[in-house]
Amino acid sequence: MSTPILEVDNLRKEFGGLVAVNDVSFKVHPGQIMAIIGPNGAGKTTTYNLITKFYPLTSGNIIYKQKRIDHLPSHKMAGLGITRTFQSLQIMNNMTVLENVMVGYHCKSKHGLITAALRLPLYKKEERDGRNKAMSVLEFVGLESKADWPASSLSFGEQRMVEFARALVCDPDLLMLDEPASGLNIPEMEHMAELIYRVRDNGVTVMLIEHDMGLVMNISDVVTVLNYGQKIAEGTPRDIQNNQDVITAYLGEELDF
Ligand SMILES: Nc1ncnc2c1ncn2[C@@H]1O[C@H](COP(=O)(O)OP(=O)(O)OP(=O)(O)O)[C@@H](O)[C@H]1O
Ligand SMILES: [Mg+2]
Repeated sequence: MSTPILEVDNLRKEFGGLVAVNDVSFKVHPGQIMAIIGPNGAGKTTTYNLITKFYPLTSGNIIYKQKRIDHLPSHKMAGLGITRTFQSLQIMNNMTVLENVMVGYHCKSKHGLITAALRLPLYKKEERDGRNKAMSVLEFVGLESKADWPASSLSFGEQRMVEFARALVCDPDLLMLDEPASGLNIPEMEHMAELIYRVRDNGVTVMLIEHDMGLVMNISDVVTVLNYGQKIAEGTPRDIQNNQDVITAYLGEELDF
């Protein structure tokens, strides 16, 4: 087995008395699509928030490309090659589609505030590069013709694509998607699945939190299951479908594999 691109080791997050993530460990191998599933409130998004440093850890280690990153701040993540999307859409409605994608390009930024304020040549070059890169990512997701539209005029599904594009504009090595298909209709979901495959085929490792079991079972190489903050199972989609602990965790919910 290859060296993991990401390894989390006894990741823990307590919110007051609530243990949202309870000593969870897993490895993600390069080139995999790794899904994290589990019932509502299982700790999936919190796990992402810990890896990307939106929240400080209570304890645990995060090792990315064989280096500890748990002490690094959130804004360093994209520069290291880790980008993410959000379960609740983070779209700036007063900006165009292109500008929304360009926001993700900050990882490449080398200029300081003064260079930006005075619009010195380095800033202008970065802006031009960011615009070009954002356009190519918009083409990839099929939204290039709407680049100059206000983001607010797009459908919900298209806005999800804009967020996906923003996470790609920095050329991530590890892309962390939090329910990318939530709220999408079936053709949009199929399009999203196709794009996730293509991203992976371009060498990006993908983590995917998703409730749609059809999507998870179709596209994942490996699935990790959380329940009440704990990891209760890990394996191939087929292993997970037949795992009694997983079936029990989902009792009462419709589990449509
Ligand atoms: N900032 C916070 N403060 C307090 N409790 C929180 C906070 N964020 C999450 N929690 C709690 O931690 C637990 C795990 O939440 P989390 O959002 O990680 O679940 P999830 O698996 O992503 O669920 P869902 O499928 O509904 O998105 C929940 O009980 C939630 O209420
Ligand atoms: Mg969540």
